Amino acid sequence: MLNRRDFLKISAAVAAVSPLSAVRAQSSSTDSSSEVSAANSLRAHAEQHGLLVGCAVAPERLANDAQYAALVAGQINLLVAENAMKWHALRPAPDKFDFTAADAILAFAESHNQKLRGHNLCWHEALPDWFASTVTKANARQTLTKHIETVAGHFAGKLHSWDVVNEAIDPASPRPDGLRVSPWLELAGEDYIELAFRTARQADPKALLTYNDYGIELDTPKHVDKRAKVLALVQRLHKSGIIDAVGVQSHLSAGDDVSGTGLRDFVRELRGMGLQVFITELDVNTQKAQGTVADRDAEVARIYREYLTHMLAESNVTAALTWGITDRYTWLNSPRYARPDGQRQRPLPFDADYKPTSAFFAERAALDSRPAAADRL
Ligand code: G3I
Repeated sequence: MLNRRDFLKISAAVAAVSPLSAVRAQSSSTDSSSEVSAANSLRAHAEQHGLLVGCAVAPERLANDAQYAALVAGQINLLVAENAMKWHALRPAPDKFDFTAADAILAFAESHNQKLRGHNLCWHEALPDWFASTVTKANARQTLTKHIETVAGHFAGKLHSWDVVNEAIDPASPRPDGLRVSPWLELAGEDYIELAFRTARQADPKALLTYNDYGIELDTPKHVDKRAKVLALVQRLHKSGIIDAVGVQSHLSAGDDVSGTGLRDFVRELRGMGLQVFITELDVNTQKAQGTVADRDAEVARIYREYLTHMLAESNVTAALTWGITDRYTWLNSPRYARPDGQRQRPLPFDADYKPTSAFFAERAALDSRPAAADRL
């Protein structure tokens, strides 16, 4: 949790970090021994194509790690809080809201001319400890609306978009509509999703209201089934005019076949409904991948290149974010995803020493592959 001293440090970092900060590059076929400076950053390449390129960030790292802050300032034009805008971060007690950490991210973004996404207003995870003993069928709807009114209201007019509801579909659900059997469903009723979106719309009419989910990227039977259920839910929300975008999380794994057409059909279906699509949490899990570090890097880069190139060919895909920016800080190096050989995973565009990985060059090439507006699908 961010304390006041961290907050002050972020304010100092905000002032000190220049978006022109350069980061030494690892040798690569295209940028051998060069620097990833402003002109050849992800951000510059994205902006040339009218795209948003982003990453998840942590405010305590922005405050305490100057190299990290420089990387985020120089490479990215769209931020999202990895954890700092979730319920457990904002709600220390049932009657308390603490915006210190989230506000620090907003201040960083504003001072570097970056946009900020909100993640998230309603999820079955990251709920505070008091939730289970405090929220009941009698007060769940009011608890949800009060949270959204307060949080979305606090940031009103300042955010690019909000993940209003996160991961509400579960292929293992016994329900035909696939709605996850979660505390929200059980306590607030099956229209809790509409309630959340309607409340968010009123609290912040400017933010793009987004439904965000994972496990819908591939053409495996499980992903195809989940994608169909997500589409049905989005159509339900679209009929009520309360959704603007869909977030495709894109937590992929080595070996994934990302050449299937199902996701692109889904994206086009959404385009027909006037909805944008954001790639919200891209990374590549190499927990079980064999081969050398170089082999695994090449596989991560292959997935970045193929996946992003396919997706960015679709005109309504307007933003691509990775779930972190450096391998130094990635949820995939938590014990749950540890490799059996003890080697660290390298799922992100910069390695643990802040040098660009093969994924960086693949991501940048994919941004450059964005067709000119006139040629876009
Ligand atoms: O902040 C505490 C720290 O004080 C404590 O010492 C430490 C000990 O475990 O825990 C810290 O909190 C952890 C937090 O990450 C910050 O590191 C939580 O236990 C841990 O559950 C939390 O995990 C996050 C997870 O969402 C659950 O909120 C991951 O960082 C975050 O990457 C992950 O992100 C999710 C997206 O929100 C939704 N899509 C999937 C994605 C990956 O799971």
